[in-house]
Amino acid sequence: MAQQRSARVGYWLAVLALGCGGPAPRSGGAPPPPPSAAPVAPALPAPVPSAAAVVQPSPQLPAEPPRVAVGRHGAVASQEANATDVALGVLQQGGNAVDAAIALGLALAVTHPSAGNLGGGGFMVIRRADGAAYALDYRETAPSAASRDMYLDAQGNLSDARLNGPKAAGIPGTVAGFAAAHAKLGKLPWRALVEPALRLARDGFTLTAEDASTLGRGAAKMRELGYAASARIYSRKDGAPLQAGDRWVQPELAKTLGLIATEPTAFYRGPLAATLAREVRRAGGLWTPADLARYEARWREPVVFDYRGHTIITMPLPSAGGVVLEQLLVASEVLGLERRAWRSADEIHLFAEAMRRTYADRNQLLGDPDFVKVPPDLLETSYIRDRMRGIELERATPSAEIQAGVAPAREESTQTTHYSVVDADGNAVANTYTLNTGFGAKFVVPGTGVLLNNEMDDFAVKPGAPNVFGLVQGEPNKIEPGKRMLSSMTPTVVVRGGRLRAVLGSPGGPTISTTVAQLVRGLVDYGQPLSVVVPALRVHHQWLPDQIWTEEQLSPALKAELERRGHVIRQRPHLGHANVIEVDAETGERRAVADTTRGEGKAAAY
Ligand code: DON
Repeated sequence: MAQQRSARVGYWLAVLALGCGGPAPRSGGAPPPPPSAAPVAPALPAPVPSAAAVVQPSPQLPAEPPRVAVGRHGAVASQEANATDVALGVLQQGGNAVDAAIALGLALAVTHPSAGNLGGGGFMVIRRADGAAYALDYRETAPSAASRDMYLDAQGNLSDARLNGPKAAGIPGTVAGFAAAHAKLGKLPWRALVEPALRLARDGFTLTAEDASTLGRGAAKMRELGYAASARIYSRKDGAPLQAGDRWVQPELAKTLGLIATEPTAFYRGPLAATLAREVRRAGGLWTPADLARYEARWREPVVFDYRGHTIITMPLPSAGGVVLEQLLVASEVLGLERRAWRSADEIHLFAEAMRRTYADRNQLLGDPDFVKVPPDLLETSYIRDRMRGIELERATPSAEIQAGVAPAREESTQTTHYSVVDADGNAVANTYTLNTGFGAKFVVPGTGVLLNNEMDDFAVKPGAPNVFGLVQGEPNKIEPGKRMLSSMTPTVVVRGGRLRAVLGSPGGPTISTTVAQLVRGLVDYGQPLSVVVPALRVHHQWLPDQIWTEEQLSPALKAELERRGHVIRQRPHLGHANVIEVDAETGERRAVADTTRGEGKAAAY
């Protein structure tokens, strides 16, 4: 791995270019884009020179650029250093990107338990060096005893059980998903991929300050909920909070990993599965041994589309991620967003209007394709063009004019995790998986070390009412036995001219798909390296609540200009955590970038 000085210099040069307010220069000597006063879309009135011309779009820059690891063979970026090292080790031992992604995911279940998991689920997009593309759905399913109104009391009020405790947990898909990926595309023996995680759980690893504070918060919440036995796992032996520098061991999780190392189906059939189902039910959950035995990861046709000379390969339903990403990128093209200065008021405003309309569709129309029929033309350019008609440059369209109803979002820690892997042959894996919110259901199945997800809240638990992310979703995503809850996870691979160009993704609930769209646009529309695109200011709109979420670095002038156009602005410390890899199309050089301006992470390459 090399922390390249030249990459840093390049970062600052490009950052300065992005921050100056004009269109950013493109790489490769391509001509600069036309000025931002060019017409945006036939549907829009001719853009008038607006106050945006004088608004400084420059976000405050992060104190430190993200780490860029450069190599010619393999590359990895994840949210946790031990897990990145595990994956790099697998690559260097001759494993392929799929092997490394599996070992990394299992390691994160040990070292980053707020999101890394055995008890959750996710999505993996794989592109083989020969061009074959795969989408693996290992999303959780609703238990067979689940029902539409299971989280409503007699008065129709939502209960906390949708978020906390074992009743919040869908049937986990992670172990089945990794086993399916290995069976189809892995190279090293399965056991070799589980062993690094097993060692980390059995022998322990040293906690960073961020680890200790995250674990401390998780344990406190578990205690507050009455899950003292779960809290003990994430605390010192005497019950005190773990501290930076502590060596933390998880013997029960090590035991479970030992069983899985022998046979991944142990999670779904046999004594471990019986314990999982029994203990979940004992604590008020719904799982049965049959639910576990019936669980299957599914290979799906990836969503593949062209965007301005690039091929985007991303996740289909039951993640809404790919549909939203394609709609947003097509809308960006229809609106001519690439001709607007990056993070100018015009560009953010128009992108927010596109996000608003896209999310109205996502929330109302999408659900598990095995259960609901999704309208077929959602991804037609003509349809998306029609949806964008009526956008005005100077005025935000109230979401109420697009669909009725406004709903407040609840603040909740957001925890999912995304990682990217490329191997020496050019095979690529984008993997996003989660327990849903931080530490999921906050309940560890006794004796197993398996922390449960609270993914059931991703269903429309009460159609028309907001979920924990403020998403107001409809009937197609109602709870039904065996159904997969709609997701926003958007693991994505970008190809140009038949060659791998980037591996992308992020956590962040509904902000995931909009974050990935911004990563693609930074790379494609503005020709910027990911080391610049990743730390750049992010924005998000999800139709309801009717507001733009953005980060604290938004400048006061830009905020005022967006408010003048009618947007409500809500700022958060940060949106997402994009651990990504860029591949130089000419030289094949891999540049891994961890989103270290927004939290811990490690990029590595060799
Ligand atoms: O599948 C989804 O869309 C959510 N369960 C993801 C949750 C998430 O990303 C939380 N955090 N960062």
